[in-house]
Amino acid sequence: MRNRRSALAVIAAASSLALTLSACGQSGEGGSEENKGDAKGSTVGIAMPTKSSERWIADGANVEKHLKDAGYKTKLVYGEDDPDQQVSQIENLITQGVSALIIAAIDNKSLDNVLQQAKDADIPVISYDRLILNSPNVDYYASFDNEKVGQLQGQYIADKLGLADGSKKGPFNVELFAGSNDDNNTKYFFQGAMSVLQPYIDKKQLVVRSGQTKLNQVTTLRWDGGTAQKRMDDLLTAAYKKERVDAVLSPYDGISIGILSALKSDDYGSANKPLPIVTGQDAEVASLKSIKADEQTQTVFKDTRELAKVAGNMVDSLLNDKKPKTNDTETYQNGAKVVPAFLLEPVSVDKTNYQKVVVDSGYVKASDVN
Ligand code: GAL
Repeated sequence: MRNRRSALAVIAAASSLALTLSACGQSGEGGSEENKGDAKGSTVGIAMPTKSSERWIADGANVEKHLKDAGYKTKLVYGEDDPDQQVSQIENLITQGVSALIIAAIDNKSLDNVLQQAKDADIPVISYDRLILNSPNVDYYASFDNEKVGQLQGQYIADKLGLADGSKKGPFNVELFAGSNDDNNTKYFFQGAMSVLQPYIDKKQLVVRSGQTKLNQVTTLRWDGGTAQKRMDDLLTAAYKKERVDAVLSPYDGISIGILSALKSDDYGSANKPLPIVTGQDAEVASLKSIKADEQTQTVFKDTRELAKVAGNMVDSLLNDKKPKTNDTETYQNGAKVVPAFLLEPVSVDKTNYQKVVVDSGYVKASDVN
């Protein structure tokens, strides 16, 4: 057991933690049923990728809140999308003696050395949302079903175009965008979407006029909206002089907003030139507003409050010699090991259900969207 203290402390920690966790309605999810630990009071290090997207700000706050409610202290750092900065931040957290680390990687391949330092210091590591690759020193992975995220995006396009139910045959023009090539989630999102879209492309019911259909042709470094806007501008100039684009696969709301800017600059959204279907992910406020205004069409909601609880409960279990709860011990091979995971379910959201799913659940405030 890590950080052994007195039996009294164990009992105090156990009852306080059990109370806190049951108050959160959390006893079963992603963590152990009973927590008999003595790690309470120790500091958990949390390394998040960037503050440039509101989801990561919420993730950081939610993880901190959940751990603090459970009796831990926290140190939260943001790497501002700079992999080197993230490595040195994690080194600092290790030096400061954190009891565990929760890391959402910027570059999933840059952390091997620093995770070895964590291992040497007996600090367990939770890979948060994004799987850290090529390191045996990743203890658990907390995320969403990433392939399903992509499937929801692809299926939304097939449904909305009328291809899925056969009411329309096409051909329709589609362009494809993927996330950052240094984020392991990118390939899962893309594979999931293409599992739905590829059969229509093969049957020529969907046409990618740019010809850019391979993952390495469509990635967007660091998920940057400006980079996506520029690529969409280029695609419209090169392949859509006469033709019109009917759908754009976008993996993330920040990218969707960039794509929409390019489309609107090219007169899409005017009376004779409707905007294409544009997917997204994260249910960010800017995109919910855009959905409400009939611009972006869809997003995928991932309740990061739940993810924060899963990751917090994993830490709590590990620090108390319990086995964290997992629901996938096969999928997430990181190059060094299969990392046991707990995956949450993503939900497709559009104008018809955003109010119920995202606002009524308290994830965003009605006043922010309206
Ligand atoms: C991914 C994450 C997405 C999105 C994206 C850009 O790793 O799974 O939900 O947030 O990063 O930040």
